[in-house]
Amino acid sequence: MTEVLVTGGAGYIGSHMCVELLQAGYDVVVADNLSNSSARSLQAVQRITQKPLSFVEMDIRDEERLAALFRSHRFDAVLHFAGLKAVAESVAEPLRYYDNNVNGTLRLVEAMSSAGVKTLVFSSSATVYGTQERVPIDESAGTAPTNPYGRTKLQVEQLLHDLGDADAQWRISLLRYFNPVGAHPSGEIGEDPNDIPNNLMPYIAQVAIGRLPCLRVFGDDYATADGTGVRDYIHVVDLVNGHLRALDYLQANTGVAVHNLGSGRGHSVLEVIAAFERASGRPIAHEVVARRPGDVARSFADPGKANRELNWTATHDLERICQDAWKWQTRHPDGYRTA
Ligand code: NAD
Ligand code: UD1
Repeated sequence: MTEVLVTGGAGYIGSHMCVELLQAGYDVVVADNLSNSSARSLQAVQRITQKPLSFVEMDIRDEERLAALFRSHRFDAVLHFAGLKAVAESVAEPLRYYDNNVNGTLRLVEAMSSAGVKTLVFSSSATVYGTQERVPIDESAGTAPTNPYGRTKLQVEQLLHDLGDADAQWRISLLRYFNPVGAHPSGEIGEDPNDIPNNLMPYIAQVAIGRLPCLRVFGDDYATADGTGVRDYIHVVDLVNGHLRALDYLQANTGVAVHNLGSGRGHSVLEVIAAFERASGRPIAHEVVARRPGDVARSFADPGKANRELNWTATHDLERICQDAWKWQTRHPDGYRTA
């Protein structure tokens, strides 16, 4: 049996990863400090799969506990989701972001290196591309993140490239996510923002359920078909399946590989609102306000490299994304606080 470590496995994407890993027959150990998640997600993972996983509540910057974890298991690979991800917070608290995201990864790869575990899948982000004029965006596009969060992701990518260059035994997959959304079709795990959501889809879901009064649409004067921002929304189950394909790829390939994980399709804010209205059967109150600073008109992936090299493609469309997000929202109107 193949055993893997999932850092940040109690979080939004990590918990969906655990479901797919368990269902694919992996043994799973989660390390998470629960700074932005609830252990209830992992109980739900085990209910969905009817399989056990191991959970260690710890910070990945804790070198002693990390070393002990690698001594007590023989991991074949690590999937590294642990990190902080809120753009505005990263502007206000850059040191916390660099410490958590960059130092956290450094401590992790040091422990992996000492233990001789040299296969890693890292959660990077399309945010590393910064503002791109040309879409779709492929992996050869330049990188110029526009905020501290994005710069921590790029620094980790660079650190891992240097590591792969220095030691040919490493097998590293850098996956650049576009906009992960939706929830597991069971409705038992999903995105559970601590506060008022920053991102479009969880905000719409909370307007639909009545927790928030009105969505603010950030600008309708962009050079897009209806004037609102266009993004590449990818179902979280498609996204984590891309990681399973990446693990297969790393079995056959050493070195460092970079892949976009996106659907390749762009949808405007108004299209997302309309799709969510159809999925929920409820009107989504919204008003157009000024553009949000830092936003670009259009961002969507060229997923061709992942299609070819990982044999992966996104299969869930926007309708399905909204249906699954709505199911999670209605079953858990207060997230994991709903018993
Ligand atoms: P999340 O906050 O739900 O999950 C991250 C998990 O990591 C949380 O459970 C948190 O408690 C844990 N964590 C954070 N710092 C830790 C530390 N030092 N030690 C141990 N655990 C720690 O976020 P998510 O949406 O599931 O994102 C997962 C990863 O994907 C992150 O690295 C994020 O930057 C990246 N990513 C997310 C998105 C997105 O839109 N959600 C887009 C691109 C990339
Ligand atoms: C944002 C982050 C990005 C991060 C990603 C994680 C910024 C500038 N970018 O991307 O770094 O990797 O989240 O998923 O914060 N919108 C509204 N009203 C809202 C919220 C959003 O109109 O209340 C619009 C935005 O202007 C954008 C689209 O919806 O056009 C998607 O926004 P969002 O979900 O926040 O994702 P990104 O901005 O693409």
